[in-house]
Amino acid sequence: MKAGILGLGYWGPNLIRNFLSQSEVEKVYGCDLQDSRLNFIKSKFPSTILTKDYDEMLKNVDVVAIATPVATHFNFAKQALLMGKHIWVEKPFTATSQEAVELIELAEKRNLKIFVDHTFIYTGAVRKMKELADNGEIGDIKYFDSVRVNLGLFQHDVNVIWDLAPHDLSIMGYLLPNNKPIAVAANGIANFYEHENVAHLSVYFNNNCFAHFHVNWTSPVKIRRMIIGGDKKMIVFNDMENLEKIKVYDSGINISKREEIHEALVQYRIGDMHSPKVIQTEALSLGANEFITAINENRQPLTNAVDGLAVVKILEAAEESIKHRGKIVEI
Ligand SMILES: NC(=O)c1ccc[n+]([C@@H]2O[C@H](COP(=O)([O-])OP(=O)(O)OC[C@H]3O[C@@H](n4cnc5c(N)ncnc54)[C@H](O)[C@@H]3O)[C@@H](O)[C@H]2O)c1
Repeated sequence: MKAGILGLGYWGPNLIRNFLSQSEVEKVYGCDLQDSRLNFIKSKFPSTILTKDYDEMLKNVDVVAIATPVATHFNFAKQALLMGKHIWVEKPFTATSQEAVELIELAEKRNLKIFVDHTFIYTGAVRKMKELADNGEIGDIKYFDSVRVNLGLFQHDVNVIWDLAPHDLSIMGYLLPNNKPIAVAANGIANFYEHENVAHLSVYFNNNCFAHFHVNWTSPVKIRRMIIGGDKKMIVFNDMENLEKIKVYDSGINISKREEIHEALVQYRIGDMHSPKVIQTEALSLGANEFITAINENRQPLTNAVDGLAVVKILEAAEESIKHRGKIVEI
């Protein structure tokens, strides 16, 4: 298999390295418009064949990974599908849900696979949380409460929700495949240019579950922490920890129902905490392997275009909400 990587900025070099390390990939091509990025890849990964011409790269490869700014994903993806190539598209999948639907239909017609890079789904920590959610250990998930802040790289074409929240939203969708998000509310502020750099996003579901995400490119400290409240146990996922990324707390609250609300008895259960072992294999390497295996087995990849569309729908609704200072927008 020959793989082409389009966009060799911040993220593209990670794709080059991980596709080069796949045994099924015999050649890796790279494409960017900037000489400085091509020179950087030439010095770090000399076996990569480099070009500034996307059309030329497309002619030579079987699969393409698109790691350019979000607004450009659709056109590059469509062009690749029309030339019969399987595609890997960086998160967020597309700039609108309409674009996502068009790509899904095109890929279906041509029996091509679309992998959307929801990288976190391939991390050991998220796979362990999935195991705990699926085997019933944490019970029904009642809420997600997440903080993803640091002095981050500003993206030029999207706000901080489009940039950072796809990670959290994809984790949420993966752990809660049967809960349907029905509405969102988002607030935020753009302190430096037209796109918000601090934002809060709430997601409402069709059942008694709620999620809140706080994202910020301008925080002096880096925090990557998610609390997942189950009615049996609760998980704290701290991605800044090297070893104990996940802590499972056997804690909760029982409320005994009384006639009068002020008589209700709140009982706290504070039990043991344990930190399960999580696999440390690089997520992108597992993602690249899943993409190639899904193509060989002619099946949808674990993180596919339908998941990408679900995330884009929430992002679109958030964009609408933020313009109206937190108005509830139905999905
Ligand atoms: N999965 C993840 O964890 C993760 C992390 C970071 C970024 N990303 C995603 O990767 C994508 C790129 O982000 P980035 O931070 O690397 O951006 P970036 O701006 O650093 O890099 C984008 C590159 O694309 C190139 N480019 C733009 N238009 C081009 C064209 N027409 N032809 C060839 N090259 C072109 C630019 O020259 C630049 O080098 C975004 O969708 C972003 O959301 C994903």
